Amino acid sequence: MTSVLPTHIETARLRLRPFRAHDVDDVLAYAVDREFGRYVAMPFPYRRTDAEAFVSRGMAADWATAPTWAIDAGGRVIGAVHLTVEPAHRRARLGFAVARAHWRQGLTLEATRAVVDWAFTTLAITRLYATTDVRHQAAHQLLERLGMQHEATLRLHRTQRRVQVDEAWYGLLRVEWEAVSTASR
Ligand SMILES: CC(C)(COP(=O)(O)OP(=O)(O)OC[C@H]1O[C@@H](n2cnc3c(N)ncnc32)[C@H](O)[C@@H]1OP(=O)(O)O)[C@@H](O)C(=O)NCCC(=O)NCCS
Repeated sequence: MTSVLPTHIETARLRLRPFRAHDVDDVLAYAVDREFGRYVAMPFPYRRTDAEAFVSRGMAADWATAPTWAIDAGGRVIGAVHLTVEPAHRRARLGFAVARAHWRQGLTLEATRAVVDWAFTTLAITRLYATTDVRHQAAHQLLERLGMQHEATLRLHRTQRRVQVDEAWYGLLRVEWEAVSTASR
């Protein structure tokens, strides 16, 4: 089993690849949207310097522990998928975001499913997890579509745009992922 995820992942409609400096305009175009960031820990209002910092962080991140893929649809970046790999705990944390213009087309599911499959195939992890603002129904549904289970809700665990909110934790164990991926073969 190798331990570094691929930098490029192709899905039916998307190309996941590392960020490049010239992606700043695409990121800024979708991240300034108030709705996009409603449940995401990101600057608000969002400025060009924020997009530059986001893209720079993605480019500089250690691919072994913090891979960040730009989601490229037809040459434009429409979002990102991120993993934080914690080898000492044999776990990884999933993060994702897609531009509002592309919601409800199954694209986030397509991108995240590909990363989840690669993560369990490539890394020696036993657990993948994600957290979200408890009010973010779309994210809850999406995580469940990925096969994740709601494990806990931490009370007033995060502050989102100055409002303290509960945070939901979701997890998927390797054995559960194996059962689902075997069944769908
Ligand atoms: C949450 C988010 C990722 C959903 O993305 P999306 O591209 O619309 O999701 P998909 O089209 O891939 O849908 C996958 C599943 O998620 C669920 N879902 C998506 N949007 C939903 C909504 N508005 N209400 C309820 N369920 C929803 C559905 O179960 C859907 O499957 P279905 O269409 O077969 O019913 C998107 O809103 C987003 O990126 N928001 C901005 C950033 C963000 O909030 N990131 C998540 C931080 S935890």
